[in-house]
Amino acid sequence: MTRSASEHAKNRETEFVEQLKDLLRIPSISTLTTHKSYIERAAEWLRDHCLAIGMTRAEIYPTPGHPIVYAEWLGAGKAAPTLLVYGHYDVQPVDGVWNQEDPFEPVERGGNLYARGATDDKGQLFVHLKAFDAIMKATGSFPMNFKVMFEGEEEIASVHLNAFIEKHLDMLTADVVVISDNHIQGIDDPSIIYGLRGLTYMEIEVTGPDHDLHSGAYGGAVHNPALALVQILHRMHDEQGHILVPGFYDEVVPLTDEERKALSAVPFTEAMLKAQTGADKLWGEPEFTARERIGARPTLEINGIWGGWTGEGQKTIIPAKATAKVSCRLVANQNPKRIYELVKAYVARITPDTVRSEVRLLSTGDSALVPLDSEAMQVAVEAYEAVFGKKPTFMREGGSIPVVATYNRLMKAPVVMMGFGLPDDNLHAPNEKITLKMFHRGIQTMIHFYQNLPKHFGK
Ligand code: BES
Ligand code: MN
Ligand code: MN
Repeated sequence: MTRSASEHAKNRETEFVEQLKDLLRIPSISTLTTHKSYIERAAEWLRDHCLAIGMTRAEIYPTPGHPIVYAEWLGAGKAAPTLLVYGHYDVQPVDGVWNQEDPFEPVERGGNLYARGATDDKGQLFVHLKAFDAIMKATGSFPMNFKVMFEGEEEIASVHLNAFIEKHLDMLTADVVVISDNHIQGIDDPSIIYGLRGLTYMEIEVTGPDHDLHSGAYGGAVHNPALALVQILHRMHDEQGHILVPGFYDEVVPLTDEERKALSAVPFTEAMLKAQTGADKLWGEPEFTARERIGARPTLEINGIWGGWTGEGQKTIIPAKATAKVSCRLVANQNPKRIYELVKAYVARITPDTVRSEVRLLSTGDSALVPLDSEAMQVAVEAYEAVFGKKPTFMREGGSIPVVATYNRLMKAPVVMMGFGLPDDNLHAPNEKITLKMFHRGIQTMIHFYQNLPKHFGK
């Protein structure tokens, strides 16, 4: 049975890629209000596709923000396990310089498919729909009950998802949750993520004079808000990269020796990091390795900073205000709201009395660790091994997927993160891609996982 679904998927590889291209053509950018209609179109596309591949119910649930798509096939009966797949159909904006004219017109080149959303997360969520499709077409049935939930607000911190999950717990109930929204270490180096960082996203605004001033007429007598902002931001880290906000590290769960050992086994070198990023030299807390810093240490980053004249040429002014987008990546057990309070208090304390400052909270997401010892995790290990010819390593990742903590809190089902991206997929950046070999291997891996889970499942 495994072989026939797997062969079925192999025979339809080209068709599957063409379908994915259709989904990628919809510019469902969640952070831009101008793109609301595309968000809706992407949700409708997914609902229709779920029905087309044989799911028996598919619905769009509106939220105060972007809609959630829920679909199910419950034909395996009450005795069989139930699986819930999570994914997100919203994508990041497309600023920056791309090699293609239109980031929403997918381009196939060198075994890769380039488009915004190719890996994050349309290509990866589509892996599940195609694995379901192949098994259904090849065998006429599915080995367990299958539910999918796709949201349109992941890239803006899943603002309305928790309320939806809380309200629909019965509908969403499952024995296992699977998420494919991350990369593995290499095309022949599978890895399974068991930890994600959380996030506190803020805006710091510094204001001074009540309008922009001539910098000759007033410079030297009035504190420049852009300078004051930089002076405040300068006090966030010491020279080595330690964060200076009092209390920031208080709740960080230290890495155990065992974990440090496991993380050092992941095929990942500083040279790889330099090649991936183009950075000349790495930076950060010297007492931790780069892998540890990305997965298990918190950060405070400036995501954007502006104020005054940033147009062509020159303009001699003291701006009335300056602003920075600042976000912290958090690890267990840091509380995102508490981190906001700490940053706010620190900024208030170090703001010179010549200007005013305000720290606004934009969003939060909790960090999460998932169990390594679930039966589903074992089946996932076997599935990767069968398709990639190598046992996956376990690691923590630096990105955030806020829903993982929500599932941990509200559902007893273990979450398993089975990613099919690669480290050089350029997510959130120009020239995002999915490697087609990974896309197809992903489908094969999920077919293996779905067909083997019921056997291992102690129900
Ligand atoms: N797929 C990423 C999360 C991710 C990135 C996991 C890298 C593992 C490795 C996700 O779409 C994402 O970008 N999440 C945002 C969430 C935030 C807005 C709360 C992130 O991490 O910035
Ligand atoms: Mn994602
Ligand atoms: Mn993302």
